[in-house]
Amino acid sequence: MKKVGIIGFGTIGYQIAKSIDSGYLSLARLSFIVDLSSERLEVAKKLLTNEKPTMFSDPYLLFDSESYESTQIIVESASGAAVRQYAKQILSDGKYLIIFSVGELVDDTLLKELESEAARHTGVIHIPTGAIAGIDAIRSARNNLDEITITTTKNPKSLAGAPYFDIFEDIHLQELSNRTVLYDGDVRKAVKLFPSNVNVFAALALATGNIAKIKVKIVADPNIKVNRHEIDVRGDFGVLQIVASNIPHPENPRTSTLAVLSAVETVRSACYETVKIGS
Ligand SMILES: NC(=O)c1ccc[n+]([C@@H]2O[C@H](COP(=O)([O-])OP(=O)(O)OC[C@H]3O[C@@H](n4cnc5c(N)ncnc54)[C@H](O)[C@@H]3O)[C@@H](O)[C@H]2O)c1
Repeated sequence: MKKVGIIGFGTIGYQIAKSIDSGYLSLARLSFIVDLSSERLEVAKKLLTNEKPTMFSDPYLLFDSESYESTQIIVESASGAAVRQYAKQILSDGKYLIIFSVGELVDDTLLKELESEAARHTGVIHIPTGAIAGIDAIRSARNNLDEITITTTKNPKSLAGAPYFDIFEDIHLQELSNRTVLYDGDVRKAVKLFPSNVNVFAALALATGNIAKIKVKIVADPNIKVNRHEIDVRGDFGVLQIVASNIPHPENPRTSTLAVLSAVETVRSACYETVKIGS
């Protein structure tokens, strides 16, 4: 039996808690939930019928609590700011940390700091596959890669509000009638221009271990309803082509349904040690 704590009770946190409470994750017990919003904690109280985790709206109370002390697996499903706020302490306490706001880790300094904290204290950082697929295969081939391209295609409505449009003021999304490539370049700039894609690009960058090798294309297509990520990887091992056509989650269109499924599976695989699947 593993004790699981959740930081961020939004779309992802809710689904993990529900999967534990319903018994689907039968080897997990829910030890605590942290959310800055007391309304979200009220939602958690109403949801849970079997599990009785300690609830914190003040994150500073977490680290001194008995429920934190006894927890082995912690899921960050809150925000990039939460990664900066909690991750170092959790890893220095030797715990298993699943990070969903993986975009924060494109900051090399932060990543190295967390990696060394984990290494010194036998903590674990687990980056879930999230809204894409195939990062296990890409990771296996990471020393044999020549080219990595990710093409993300979204409906113009899903791209609206990105900082890109403050710079390229002559591009009017609502007037696009055809598939249009908005951006073709490197990851670091893509993350700044289209921050809502940051988690997907960051997961890919971490899997390859070479952010500079990844080329990103962002495409607006008025005829598409899903968020599509096409990944093309080439090297002396052959070619990998991965396509994820994601339906946005009904409760939070910024998060894809696949990412929520990935969250539950990541916690399941962290708790169940008998059979591990994937490289
Ligand atoms: N890796 C991936 O592929 C992937 C996919 C989807 C979402 N995400 C990321 O995962 C995170 C959670 O996604 P979601 O859809 O559940 O978000 P959400 O907005 O539905 O929920 C986030 C919750 O965290 C709480 N929160 C925010 N900052 C906090 C903090 N510092 N301490 C405690 N609680 C805090 C909020 O009050 C909210 O209830 C986001 O950062 C999102 O970008 C990653």
